[in-house]
Amino acid sequence: MRLHVVDHPLVSHKLTVLRDEQTDSPTFRRLTDELVTLLAYEATREVRVDPRDITTPVGPTTGVYLAQPRPMVVPILRAGLGMLDGMMRLLPTAEVGFLGMVRNEETLEASTYAERLPDDLSGRQCYVLDPMLATGGTLAAAINFLTSRGADDITAICLLAAPEGVANLEAGLEGLDVPVTVVTAALDEKLNDKGYIVPGLGDAGDRLYGVA
Ligand code: URA
Repeated sequence: MRLHVVDHPLVSHKLTVLRDEQTDSPTFRRLTDELVTLLAYEATREVRVDPRDITTPVGPTTGVYLAQPRPMVVPILRAGLGMLDGMMRLLPTAEVGFLGMVRNEETLEASTYAERLPDDLSGRQCYVLDPMLATGGTLAAAINFLTSRGADDITAICLLAAPEGVANLEAGLEGLDVPVTVVTAALDEKLNDKGYIVPGLGDAGDRLYGVA
């Protein structure tokens, strides 16, 4: 697994405003949107393209178009939905599939409670949207689910990551023969005993939608 922490002053600025407990939900949603677009620019660096002959008003040239099959964007419900518009701004022709993941509080295992995805994801590049890479369990389960359907290249976009989550995700993907990249705005200090990222930004779903 490859971890890419995007180092850019605009990313750091927007993330700082997101972290601030004084930031209200409308501002939080707008900044999440803008931040995801910046992260998506880095996350799509390896998106597949095919050569395409075109003619400009001045003459012929060869450029590139996004390759088929189209990339698949997969927000993880609920908080990943707040990242969808920012991603689709950059990849408007991508398809969108949905994954609802829930964690069993006794076993701590994440499982799928809802999915709306093609049965066959063979040859698909998938972009998973999950704002907080905290324990890593949900993201590992989501990535394993997508690869079980044939996805052969996965990039997760997270606003924030905790070192424990990165380590658990690596362990949870052991033996997986598919390239996985995590793109994030920051690698924070740690998880606290409630599973929150420190310093983090709190509960991303609550801050996006204003309810628990
Ligand atoms: N999920 C959140 O929304 N915030 C955290 O800090 C950890 C998990």
